[in-house]
This record gives sequence, C-alpha cells and structure tokens, in this order.
Amino acid sequence: MSPKPFPPPVDHRLERLLWRRGRLSALPRGEAGGKNEYDLLVIGGGSGGLACAKEAAQFGRKVAVLDYVEPSPQGTAWGLGGTCVNVGCIPKKLMHQAALLGSALKDAQHYGWNISQPVHHTWSVMAQGVQNYVKSLNWGHRVQLQEKKVKYFNIKGSFSDPHTVRGVTKAGKEIVVTADNIVIATGGRPKYPTQVSALEYGITSDDIFWLKKSPGKTLVVGASYVSLECAGFLTGIGLDTTVMMRSVPLRGFDQQMASLVTEHMESYGTKFLKRCFPTKVEKLESNRLQVTWKNAGLDTEETDSFNTVMWAVGRAPDTKTLNLEAVGVKTNSETGKIIVDAHEATSVPHIYAVGDITEGRPELTPTAIAAGKLLAQRLFGQSSELMDYDNVPTTVFTPLEYGCVGLSEEAAVQLGVRVAPVERIFTAVSDKIFGPQNTVFTVRELVSRSAQNFSSVAAGHNGNCCLLGLKSLIGCDSFRVAAVSASYIV
Ligand SMILES: Cc1cc2nc3c(=O)[nH]c(=O)nc-3n(C[C@H](O)[C@H](O)[C@H](O)COP(=O)(O)OP(=O)(O)OC[C@H]3O[C@@H](n4cnc5c(N)ncnc54)[C@H](O)[C@@H]3O)c2cc1C
Ligand SMILES: NC(=O)c1ccc[n+]([C@@H]2O[C@H](COP(=O)([O-])OP(=O)(O)OC[C@H]3O[C@@H](n4cnc5c(N)ncnc54)[C@H](OP(=O)(O)O)[C@@H]3O)[C@@H](O)[C@H]2O)c1
Repeated sequence: MSPKPFPPPVDHRLERLLWRRGRLSALPRGEAGGKNEYDLLVIGGGSGGLACAKEAAQFGRKVAVLDYVEPSPQGTAWGLGGTCVNVGCIPKKLMHQAALLGSALKDAQHYGWNISQPVHHTWSVMAQGVQNYVKSLNWGHRVQLQEKKVKYFNIKGSFSDPHTVRGVTKAGKEIVVTADNIVIATGGRPKYPTQVSALEYGITSDDIFWLKKSPGKTLVVGASYVSLECAGFLTGIGLDTTVMMRSVPLRGFDQQMASLVTEHMESYGTKFLKRCFPTKVEKLESNRLQVTWKNAGLDTEETDSFNTVMWAVGRAPDTKTLNLEAVGVKTNSETGKIIVDAHEATSVPHIYAVGDITEGRPELTPTAIAAGKLLAQRLFGQSSELMDYDNVPTTVFTPLEYGCVGLSEEAAVQLGVRVAPVERIFTAVSDKIFGPQNTVFTVRELVSRSAQNFSSVAAGHNGNCCLLGLKSLIGCDSFRVAAVSASYIV
C-alpha cells in the first residue's frame, strides 16, 4: 500500500512561544486529549531511545519504540540496539581488547611465559566472536522490551502530523502509531567525503566490525575518536595501518595529550600521513584501491595502494526521512541536528529529542542513556531533574588509552583563564624492571588559582583553586582512568 498524503501543516506559533519560554515541561501529559494509542513513542532504538522507553514503561505507561537500520552503502545492516551496541562502543572495545591481548602476549615472555613468537591473529575468529556477542545483545534488547511491555516496531518512522508517525514493514504493511509524547532518538551515521569517489570504494565504522575477512592493509582517513581507535586495533592485531590526517589529531582535546597518543601509536607501528587529504581513489585490476592524496606540508601529490580504505571523517544526524519540517521541529541548518532546550524539548511541545541527534550535546552513550532516563522521569515520574552535560568524562580507546574530563588547555585559554598545567608522568613498575613496554601513565591537571568564577566549567574546586580539567593516559585499563579522574574530582 502506498503511504497516504500528509495533512496540511499545523500552526505551531503557540507551541513555539511556549518552547522559547522554557515552559514545555509544564505542559500536561496527553494534551491530545487521550485519544492517542500510546503515552510515549520513541523513534530510534539505540542508547538514548531504549533507555527512555524502558524507564517510561517502569511508570506503567504505554510505550512503543520504532527502530530501523538503513543498510550502509556497502550493504551492512544489524539489529536492535543502535550504534553503540552494533557498530560503536561494544564491537570497538572488543576489538581493542583483542589488540591489547596481542601486546600482552608479546610482554608475557618477559614474565616467564613460553609463547612462541611471532604470534598470529585470525580476523575471522575475532569477528565471529564479536558478531555473535552483538547478536546476543540485539536479542537481549528485544526480550527486555517484551518483558517491560514496550511495543517494538521494526519500521523506519516518519511524521505525518505532530502526534502521528508512520512507516512500512519489510512485508510492505503500513503501520501508523499515535502518541501523546514523542521522543526522537535516531542518532547519526558516518559521513563520506564529497571530494572523492568514496561511497563506491570505501568502508566506514558501519562496516568494519561486520567484515568476515581481514581488511588487510588499511588506510584510515580522519584523525579523531573513530579513526584513531580503529587504526589502533588494526595495528594491534598486526595489520599494516596508515592514518591520513589533514590537520590535528583529536581536535578539541588537550593537544599536548593528543600528541602523546599519536606518538605512542607511531611507536606501536601505525603510520601517519600528516597534513594530507585524499583526492582520488581508483580500483586496480588486483582489486586493491589506489589512493592519491595531496601532501599540503610538502606541496606534493603522493599515491599508494591499499586493500581497504576506511572513511572516519565524522558523523551526520539521521533526520532526513523523519519529515520534521512538516511538524515544525526545528533543526540547525548547518549541522542538521535537532535544537533542544534544557528539558530536551524541541520546538514542538510533546516532541522531544535525546542523544546524538541533538544539537550541542556530547555524542556519547552514557549521556544519551542518562538524558533518555531523566526525560522519562520528568514526563511520567514527577521529577524535575535535568541532565547535566557539563564535565562529562570520556575515554579514547587508542592503544594508550586516554581519559579526560573538564576543559582542555586550549579551551581554558580561550575562556581567558590563566591556567597552570601540572603534569605527572608515572612509570609502571613493570617498565622499570623490563624496559618500556606498554604501561606509560601520564596525568595532566589543569589548575587555575584565580578561577573561582569558573566553577561552572570546572571539573572540581576546593575554594582556593579550580581543577579545570584532568587528562590521563594509561597503557593498561581505562577503568583506572575513570578511577583516577574520580579521585581528583571529589
Ligand atoms: C565507532 C564508534 C565507537 C564509539 N565508541 C563509543 C564509546 O566507546 N563510548 C561512548 O560513550 N560512545 C561511543 N560512541 C558513540 C555512541 O555510539 C553514540 O553516542 C550513541 O550510540 C548515541 O546513541 P543514540 O541513542 O543517540 O543513537 P543511536 O545509538 O545511533 O541509535 C539510533 C537508532 O535509531 C535508528 N533510526 C534512525 N532513523 C530512524 C527512523 N526514522 N525510524 C526508526 N529508527 C531509526 C537507527 O538505525 C539506530 O538504531 C561510538 C560511536 C562510534 C561510531
Ligand atoms: N570512545 C568514545 O567515546 C567514542 C569513540 C568513537 C566515537 N565517539 C563519538 O563519535 C563522535 C564522532 O567521532 P568521529 O571520529 O567520527 O568524528 P569527528 O570527531 O567529527 O572527527 C572527524 C575527523 O575527520 C576529519 N575530516 C573531516 N572531514 C574530512 C575530509 N573531508 N577529509 C579528511 N578528513 C576529514 C576531521 O579533521 P579536522 O579535525 O581537520 O576537521 C577529524 O579528524 C565523537 O564526537 C564522539 O563523541 C566516541
């Protein structure tokens, strides 16, 4: 059946006025007069959406979730749970762990373990294990929704009016869902560079974790979280890996620490093409991909061939098919992300948004989960607690794991704070005995003694001085980073 035409646009002037005055959360539940089928409909079954739906169901509300995965241009698709579970944190952390185990095997001989060197890694075994685990999580999410009586529809939702979302099942059946409150949590997808024939030849983080065969010699384009984490584990499992970086690594992070991350990666075997950007990708008869790039530092054109090219050039919000304009949900025209206020309210009352799809929020799973839960509590649990997006700690899972919270030195300086970075470099006992291996531990505190006025941006303060930021690099286990961060903050 072909979808019905959308009704004419509704006048949203009053709703927008209320939104601007921050009064959305005061609107009564069920303003549609209770004629809608659900109390809450969540579009997007990822970190934020599932957390919000499950929390709302705890309050005895009638809740539905729509989740649909558009296959990547390479044809990769996956199940319920969103980016983190399927093509993000979880498979990434497992492959990172595979790489760390390889390093541990090399170190183990110093501790008396007889392991014949060199050790070899088999991609297909790792990939099978990771993929099976992810599928078990997909199943677990479905079971949890069932247990909590949350109705799940595997459809791609699109608004047809402010209380109605419709979509078509794989079998071609049209589903129409109406709800008093709607939460958009559709996340984002990897971007492709426009200047090269990228769609055809490259893969992205949407594909790498689902490859059945080793990617072989790999070029990773981009130099932020996704690029450096993937390049780190690819190097760690023994693949010839190159990162193409057009500017700085880990933009937005403390650049001194970012340099330590990339220096360590270079010593670990990752190659870096600095100040380079791709101009052409061609497929050779051998099926290898010949990449041509401009080296802006040397003003030269260079070329090499790879088995795989992975684009890690950022992510774009997934709003295109939602038909937001028809219902009046405002987006940022540059980023395409949904504009929300402190209550996660959009420009339309009863329509909210959480997670990566929202403008100006960190793109991290714990924040999406917390925002989703708190929103459900405010909507149905008589809570007024808002999500606090300041000082969210984060870890970059490069071979030398980098955890940080608070301001980078560059951001503090931009705010006009006179900062005093305090750097402590610890050497692990194992390094002292067996020579440098994998256990460097650097902590960098960013302190300002005259920064009482900046307590709102500070990661911690004790009256005399503000701790504006804390960064630590550790070659063992990121949980220790979190523990160190916590011990400085309290
Ligand atoms: C490689 C990688 C590694 C990462 N590692 C970490 C990490 O270590 N730690 C961390 O905190 N964060 C990490 N992240 C970020 C984290 O995955 C995201 O911040 C998080 O998943 C965002 O959750 P969300 O609910 O906003 O969206 P998502 O989890 O992306 O979920 C959105 C869901 O909505 C679905 N959808 C989209 N449009 C529609 C529609 N119209 N109808 C129905 N369904 C729709 C999507 O298919 C998807 O299933 C990583 C991301 C990547 C790419
Ligand atoms: N461990 C974690 O918690 C984790 C892990 C992965 C992802 N994430 C989340 O996911 C978000 C997205 O991460 P991301 O790494 O995909 O994106 P990102 O932070 O936006 O970085 C994009 C990178 O690609 C480069 N780039 C952009 N366009 C390019 C082009 N056309 N050609 C060459 N290089 C280009 C950028 O360089 P410039 O700096 O020069 O612009 C930058 O290095 C992050 O903000 C993070 O919140 C979190």
